[in-house]
Amino acid sequence: MSAGQAVALGIALVVVLSSAAIFTLAYRRESESRAVGTLDKEARRRTRLRKPVEVSAASDPGVDDEDSEAEPAPEPPTPIREVIELSPAEFGETRRQFLNRATGVSFGAFLAFFGITSLAFLWPKLQGGFGGKIDAGDVTEIKAAIFQPDGSIEPFYVAQAKTYVVPFDEDAISETDFGGIGVVAEGLSGLFQKCVHLGCRVPWCSSSQGFECPCHGSKYNAAGEYEAGPAPRNLDRFAIEVIDGRLIINTGVVRDTPRAKVKTVQYPQGVNCL
Ligand code: FES
Repeated sequence: MSAGQAVALGIALVVVLSSAAIFTLAYRRESESRAVGTLDKEARRRTRLRKPVEVSAASDPGVDDEDSEAEPAPEPPTPIREVIELSPAEFGETRRQFLNRATGVSFGAFLAFFGITSLAFLWPKLQGGFGGKIDAGDVTEIKAAIFQPDGSIEPFYVAQAKTYVVPFDEDAISETDFGGIGVVAEGLSGLFQKCVHLGCRVPWCSSSQGFECPCHGSKYNAAGEYEAGPAPRNLDRFAIEVIDGRLIINTGVVRDTPRAKVKTVQYPQGVNCL
């Protein structure tokens, strides 16, 4: 995983954790305010229910203890259901709490969505998809697929890596800008399929033995070196290595090089496609 991906992943994790914290805070505040409101209403209800009982006992002073023994006990007072009206101040406080809560929850939901989307975007890269290291296959088999019986070549295309694997003469590397940047291994190099002009996918032309972009006509030889057109540099290439006989393409590390002054292969070797 590259440094950029690590930073992006860290930001995504922070966003998700922040969202969880905001949700937790909003829920706790809601619970606390609900608990306080319940106590207040309950206390007020008890106070109001107690008053009629006191008044009824005080308003009948002529009744003594003997009469109360002779007559059946009076019916307990029917509880009075009261509607508690909120004052304008209380109403304003409730509405403000609701708005604060709604804002917090909405913001938290947005952050959670953003964080989860970012994680989903990065997840394939962590599992070896484009943006990470990709096993292109056995080096011997790749070379067998590249070199044709008539002496021509056909790049070995790795769709998952969006890469053309092409041969590269390592004896000539000292004359180029490709030395020391980890883009050549066991006579192979991995070219990014994207044109460095405006990003079209560059197809291979078998007759000319080069890459020719259909969008604006840029041309590159079989080693991905600039030959013609508006492209500002050679085709970009990925860092590669061979591990246990298998070619590993690191699509998280892209190397760009200026237009080649010294060409390592001849171009064109036949009729152009464009
Ligand atoms: S995008 Fe390839 S030449 Fe313009």
